[in-house]
Amino acid sequence: MKNRTANNYRDDPAAVAALVQDDQVHRDVYLDQDIFDLEMAQLWSNTWVYVGHASQVPEKGDYYATDVAMQPLMMVRHTDGSVRVMMNRCAHKGAKLVSDVCGNTGKFFRCPYHAWTYKTDGSLLAIPLKNAYEGTRLKECDASKGLVTVPNVEIYRGFVFVRLSNEGPCFLEFFGESLSSIDNMADRSPEGELEIAGGCLRFVHDCNWKMFIENLNDTMHPMVAHESSAGTAKKLWEGKPADEPKPMPIEQFVPFMSDYKFFDDMGVRVFANGHSYSGVNFSIHSNYAAIPEYEQAMADTYGEERARSILGTSRHNTVYYPSLTIKGAIQSIRVVRPLGPNQTVVESWTFRLKGAPDKLLQRTLMYSRLINSPMSVVGHDDLHVYRAMQEGLRAAGNEWVSLHRDYSPSELTQDDLTTKGTSEISMRNQFRAWRKYMMPQEAT
Ligand code: FES
Ligand SMILES: [Fe+2]
Repeated sequence: MKNRTANNYRDDPAAVAALVQDDQVHRDVYLDQDIFDLEMAQLWSNTWVYVGHASQVPEKGDYYATDVAMQPLMMVRHTDGSVRVMMNRCAHKGAKLVSDVCGNTGKFFRCPYHAWTYKTDGSLLAIPLKNAYEGTRLKECDASKGLVTVPNVEIYRGFVFVRLSNEGPCFLEFFGESLSSIDNMADRSPEGELEIAGGCLRFVHDCNWKMFIENLNDTMHPMVAHESSAGTAKKLWEGKPADEPKPMPIEQFVPFMSDYKFFDDMGVRVFANGHSYSGVNFSIHSNYAAIPEYEQAMADTYGEERARSILGTSRHNTVYYPSLTIKGAIQSIRVVRPLGPNQTVVESWTFRLKGAPDKLLQRTLMYSRLINSPMSVVGHDDLHVYRAMQEGLRAAGNEWVSLHRDYSPSELTQDDLTTKGTSEISMRNQFRAWRKYMMPQEAT
């Protein structure tokens, strides 16, 4: 059986919009190649997509190369100290200028093919045997303009975002109040700054990118999908005295097995444009053991009350739709790089809180290894169900995916809404944004 319907979504915005209803979505949003191509051309270009963190390029000439909307680009620390984002594409015949994911290029980029060189702001520096271009039309062509720089770049507390399209919402309008989760993550540093810690754990998920993003605030799955992993850890610890200090892995695994009431009471908050977070009231990260020297360092910086408020905000996952998910309370993020309708790279990055004791970083790294790494038992529970959905959706007889849990028409008119944690509202909210940004946007 074919994965796709006879629809020609490319030329039919109404057919694309019809894939999303208020409380269910058509399976083609996950399966169809044309829809995927449109996502890259519209949704992922019209919205603000995460590139990387400025601390990945601390020195002049440092670069970090990645793909956004299937386009190769790089973030570079220019000689004036600013962070620039430009296409990783030589102005001559199109070779990628850098093949490594990261490195230092010095004062300029030199193409590995014919040695055209570019300053770190993308401007053309030199062409070998340049005289041969005299009398040609090179000057009037794009080739003479140097590298294509990304016009819309915003750096928020070190998080670098781009909007590839000239049309679409401005940064603050797009993210609005959801930026409070990035604030809380950075505020958890006694110096108010984050720093990327080491490389990332990167692995391919055999599923559509939206399945991963939707799962982040799906609180009906942990106690089911993670029973074999977290449930085993929980059993191992059963019967221990309540005051026995928990080893870090037990402390991190066991809350995944919390009951429905726990996740319901956690709460979820959704914002315009697809963003959301779960853990409004507390989260699976709320009961980690205290680290007194850290709390003291926070109080010294912020004062007791503010420090308590920062550390008392313990959100679960925040989704910065469509590309970035963060866990401020544990200082880790996951970044989504779609490869095709059935394939997605997920990167897991960890952060150091500047000025915090090493124990905080140990906790972050432990969490990342246990839960998010390619070798994680918990991450593989999720991977299994993503793949199972990607394959199961091909079955005939039911072309729709239910998102009805706790649906109410009143949610359609609210841009900032908090409700019970087990609602599927965050997914419905994502698809409303999806439908909006899959259409051509107005210029800002
Ligand atoms: S392709 Fe880069 S110099 Fe020719
Ligand atoms: Fe999970």
